Amino acid sequence: MITYEPFLAEKTADRVAVYPGTFDPITMGHLDIIQRALHLFDRVVVAVAKNPTKTPTFSVEERLQMIRDCFPADETRVEVNSVDGLLVDYAYRRGAKAIVRGMRAVSDFEFEFQLALMNRRLEREVETVFLMTAFRWIYISSSIIKDVARHGGDVSGLVPDHVCERLREKFMR
Ligand code: COA
Repeated sequence: MITYEPFLAEKTADRVAVYPGTFDPITMGHLDIIQRALHLFDRVVVAVAKNPTKTPTFSVEERLQMIRDCFPADETRVEVNSVDGLLVDYAYRRGAKAIVRGMRAVSDFEFEFQLALMNRRLEREVETVFLMTAFRWIYISSSIIKDVARHGGDVSGLVPDHVCERLREKFMR
């Protein structure tokens, strides 16, 4: 006979997810994923992680602050941290059940597939959960936002207002 007890027992524990990324800077697309992840998990840890192929424009501290400023001080379900070392080790240490990733288009698939399978090989206890990026944000990325801002273009509405301000300061000529 199948018993469902272990599953019921697990339900009472806090469900934590880690949402990693470079966040250079955070965009409305990222915020959409965080908001939707909060419907599925009790807590979301936004993790500023290192991608060795990228040279970020903003320092880790600047990126953490911009993310923290997106949430009211009494928002206890979202935590913002930086991660050194392997993401899955961090997720496991934090007791996270899942790594959340946003998927924008087919072009994201190959890299995400590789990342998810490698993470699974490293730590089977942590699942990768993909959320489709909302249609209205599907064309944006941190790089395209920076490129537009660097050339004096208007990125308001695509990033939170305080991020718009930081971009203006960063690329002020
Ligand atoms: N809306 C808008 N843009 C989005 C988006 C969304 N919902 N989701 C992703 N993007 C964009 C990002 O802005 C980013 O744009 P950019 O390339 O112009 O900067 C791009 O999609 C993908 O970036 P991101 O989601 O930040 O991922 P990443 O590829 O930079 O991050 C890590 C990869 C950091 C998660 C990965 O390298 C990692 O886990 N590092 C830790 C070390 C480790 O464990 N390595 C082994 C991995 S197997």
